Amino acid sequence: MENFILNNGVSIPAIGLGTWDNRDYNSIVETLKSAFKMGYRHIDTAGFYANEHLIGRAVKDAGIRREDLFITSKVWASERGYIKTMKVFEKTIADLQTDYLDLYLIHWPASPKRYADWDLINAETWHALEDLHKAGKIRAIGVSNFWVHHLEPLLKVANVRPMVNQIEYHPGYKQQEVVDFCKSNNILVEAWSPLGRGKMFSVDLLAQMAQKYNVNIAQICIKWCLQNGVLPLPKSAKPERLKQNIEIDSFEISTSDMAQINALDLGSSSGEYPDEVGF
Ligand code: A2P
Repeated sequence: MENFILNNGVSIPAIGLGTWDNRDYNSIVETLKSAFKMGYRHIDTAGFYANEHLIGRAVKDAGIRREDLFITSKVWASERGYIKTMKVFEKTIADLQTDYLDLYLIHWPASPKRYADWDLINAETWHALEDLHKAGKIRAIGVSNFWVHHLEPLLKVANVRPMVNQIEYHPGYKQQEVVDFCKSNNILVEAWSPLGRGKMFSVDLLAQMAQKYNVNIAQICIKWCLQNGVLPLPKSAKPERLKQNIEIDSFEISTSDMAQINALDLGSSSGEYPDEVGF
């Protein structure tokens, strides 16, 4: 598997396995065993997914060495703030049966619509991540679902620049302003729901492209992310789909086809906007 290099030099496998909504131990262990055999080495979880303890067990049962894996987790909204973040991090690594994380993200920004001191909350959470990073407990730190107006104040107080911003990103919802801002600040964008939670499977243009390149729509979406310099985190619990989602070396989307997908205007976001969500 290829890698992206983060702004602190850490190498991150270019496709990660999303684990949202998988809370069944047998399913997780089977998924991870198949995924590791196929070459996946990057697992994306979060405190909110309530599966860190299952992933921790499954990784051990799958018999893969910790140093061969890249594990990301995220601080949930209720745990924002310096002290709470420090505490929940300890629970996360205990549940994951590890003593360090490869990447730790602030799952959602505190938003100006809900909190008068939103920028302070984000800054304090960030300083906890910075201190954990400095202490060698996290190899890279970042944010998730941050828009430009959340990132700008954070960058002003940050001693360590975020290495990643994980956002919803697929051909139906591109968040171009956020992506451009991150690229110009050397922050890697990761795509959650790169398949638009399945919504991309009914988009005609993507079906035409899949036919043209002799692949499927999931593979088009994943390749499109990568060719735009964005790291996709597709999720599936089905071995044949896991395999498809990583077998994307046989083709390259042409510049004109990339332009056509980039020009698609579907407005098909999940509707989970960082200033609108209820947490
Ligand atoms: P399943 O888990 O049953 O395989 P996203 O990553 O954008 O959130 O999309 C995830 C959805 O897409 C899940 O419903 C998943 O279903 C489905 N999915 C993942 N990979 C593929 C694939 N290669 N082909 C078809 N559906 C897929």
